[in-house]
Amino acid sequence: MSARGQAFGIDIGGSGVKGALVDLETGDLVRDRIKFATPHPSTPSAVAETVAKLVAQAEWDGPVGITMPSVVVNGIVRTAANIDKTWVDTDAAKLFSLALGGRDVVVLNDADAAGMAEDRFGAARDISGLVMLLTFGTGIGSALLYHGTLVPNTEFGHIEVKGKEAEHRAASSVKERKNLSYKQWAAEVTKVLVTLENLVWPDIFVAGGGISRDAEHWIPLLGNRTPVVAAHLRNTAGIVGAAMAVTAGVAP
Ligand code: BGC
Repeated sequence: MSARGQAFGIDIGGSGVKGALVDLETGDLVRDRIKFATPHPSTPSAVAETVAKLVAQAEWDGPVGITMPSVVVNGIVRTAANIDKTWVDTDAAKLFSLALGGRDVVVLNDADAAGMAEDRFGAARDISGLVMLLTFGTGIGSALLYHGTLVPNTEFGHIEVKGKEAEHRAASSVKERKNLSYKQWAAEVTKVLVTLENLVWPDIFVAGGGISRDAEHWIPLLGNRTPVVAAHLRNTAGIVGAAMAVTAGVAP
């Protein structure tokens, strides 16, 4: 199946490969999300096989947008912080396109996709100006949008904050691993936000990732000056943004 005003988005994460058909006018999923476990090891060929299985199950034959937890430049994966290292320098757009019978495929960073979706349909839809989305998960992903235009691959999760990489200080995985309270963890997130707001001066931070579901427990504890709002699209932001990328000009 293929239809106007719709595109298929797939979000590749450390634990799941999730995809759905998206209505590009509303940002809604047209049909239920399909999810497969991320193969281990998460090598390019194993992940491409999972992607092909997912698209076949959805019976979708149009273009596909796919996120990776990596810097992606012109379809080529350049970093692999939380995914199998063999991805580095893989032409992911070509790999997925071949696995999907040669159709058009756009590949982009996962946080960039979530940022596009939140900016257009979610927490930042009424904000005009500079929007920074941060996803708190295994690592910290970032997206920067100015009046709706994405500056790709910002990677603010790797910025050094008081002698430590931001994602090693304040990813939600750090909270779990060190058994930090919300108060203790929010103090670390504050340090990261203050560093970023002093460098980039966004109008708003959008906080995404699984822990944004518990936003009321920690956003009020933050001590930085820029307003912070929880992401709205939750676990569909990556899928929606991936589908948006198909027509957003990221595509060839
Ligand atoms: C990666 C980013 C990614 C983020 C969230 C970071 O470790 O460097 O590219 O967006 O994790 O998955």
